[in-house]
Amino acid sequence: MMSRNISKTDTQLTHRKVTFDFSKTTLHWIPNDPFTSQFLSVIHTILPAGEFFFFRLYNKAKHDITDEKLLDDVNGFIRQEATHARAHNTGTNDLLIKQGVDVQPYIEKIEWLFNVLLSDTPLGYTLSKNAEKKWLIARLGLVAAIEHFTCVLGKYALENTRWDEMNADPVILDVLRWHAAEEIEHRSVAFDVYQHLSGNYLMRYLHMLIAATGIISLWALGATDLMKQDPAFSAQKPKVLGRFFWSTWQNRANKGRLPSVATLVVISFRYLHPSYNPANEADTQQALDYLSNSPAAKQAATAA
Ligand SMILES: [Fe+2]
Ligand SMILES: [Fe+2]
Repeated sequence: MMSRNISKTDTQLTHRKVTFDFSKTTLHWIPNDPFTSQFLSVIHTILPAGEFFFFRLYNKAKHDITDEKLLDDVNGFIRQEATHARAHNTGTNDLLIKQGVDVQPYIEKIEWLFNVLLSDTPLGYTLSKNAEKKWLIARLGLVAAIEHFTCVLGKYALENTRWDEMNADPVILDVLRWHAAEEIEHRSVAFDVYQHLSGNYLMRYLHMLIAATGIISLWALGATDLMKQDPAFSAQKPKVLGRFFWSTWQNRANKGRLPSVATLVVISFRYLHPSYNPANEADTQQALDYLSNSPAAKQAATAA
């Protein structure tokens, strides 16, 4: 029996077993724009640990969910996020590492964040039953805020035409947009779970503050780490606190190749509106239309 009051997901979430072949992809996969190429390749280093964390967290939260449709959504969400993590792992291994980039030190920091700091036993501390419950809710709130970004940035990726005009690598574009489309498809799940198990409105401010700061910081750290190893940036030596990185980011945003920092800040404020509803942030049909044309998703559907 479906409950429309709790679940706002309007489809049955599908698990598409996609695979990607990066053997013909170059490091600067957007021709003549190493900055945007490296900036976007950061997702391969950050997302696997984050999405496997989502997988573990929602498997734990499942036991507290009493709504049948929401439980079904969560199972679909878990399967989709695990597949995203595996696809981006391929991006790390077959694109970045194979082309001589040492991503291990940065990935270890990301893994510490998700596997140690945000684990069930944060920094090794075993929590009481009461604290364990509160910690679970806090992390579900944080993921709901992160999923607001993945939905809105997913819409940006589906609608960006500049990358195509610049003859960006079609495999990378498909990874970005297949992932983007599934983020749109499951955009309501994390928020519905948070509302179902807590619904504390004021805590959303804290969750979003941590999510927005974390996303922008990790992105800047990861991007400068990739750029420092790239001979294309040997003259600029990009640093997180350096002018080059932030001014070039703004320059690429002005050219329609990346969302700007200001856009990310505006996005974060939308989450704080009392009537916020992820269902209104994007259009499921737009996502399904992309998935019905995505080379990887079509291949997965044929194989299934
Ligand atoms: Fe994802
Ligand atoms: Fe997601």
